[in-house]
Amino acid sequence: MSLTDYIRTIPDYPKKGVQFRDITTLLHNPEGLKAAVNQLVEQYKDLKIDRIAVIESRGFLLGAPLAYCLDAGLVLIRKKGKLPCETLEESYDLEYGTSTIEVHTDAIMPGDRILLVDDLIATGGTAEAAIKLIRKCGGEVVECAFLVNLPELKGDKLLEKLGCSTFALCAFDGE
Ligand code: PRP
Ligand code: MG
Repeated sequence: MSLTDYIRTIPDYPKKGVQFRDITTLLHNPEGLKAAVNQLVEQYKDLKIDRIAVIESRGFLLGAPLAYCLDAGLVLIRKKGKLPCETLEESYDLEYGTSTIEVHTDAIMPGDRILLVDDLIATGGTAEAAIKLIRKCGGEVVECAFLVNLPELKGDKLLEKLGCSTFALCAFDGE
């Protein structure tokens, strides 16, 4: 069974023409959740990851159990205004307007080997901003890992231009 089989597609959400890939059905299913985390553990167990950087909010869900299994620390990249101590911030474009994410300045030590984890890569704008934040802190982005890639939207190509490789457990090509 492919991991895509655990993921529900909602047509025309949040707006007409968009096929929303809903990972809640994978999370509901003990086998789906375990398979996703275990596959990421296999991929990264020998790569000496110091910390896993996770992007609010859905990136937290897979990044936290992965960090636990890899004996790595967990770095929260949060939407602006949620982190209480000194932060660095980075803005990125959305379809309408912009959004800003932040990280605590003491969350990453210079030279740390960081794995960036999010649930899904679409345009790559969110991951690009997160990579910039990690690099501002002096961290080395070892790879960017996702449960789902939407290759049509070329986010993986954007990250490649930034010198980061993309790994995804599964992909949806168009329909
Ligand atoms: C979704 C998804 C990724 C991002 C991918 O998050 O979880 O983080 O969009 O899109 P991109 O590659 O085009 O940047 P969203 O901003 O909807 O927030 P959420 O995780 O809090 O639901
Ligand atoms: Mg998200």
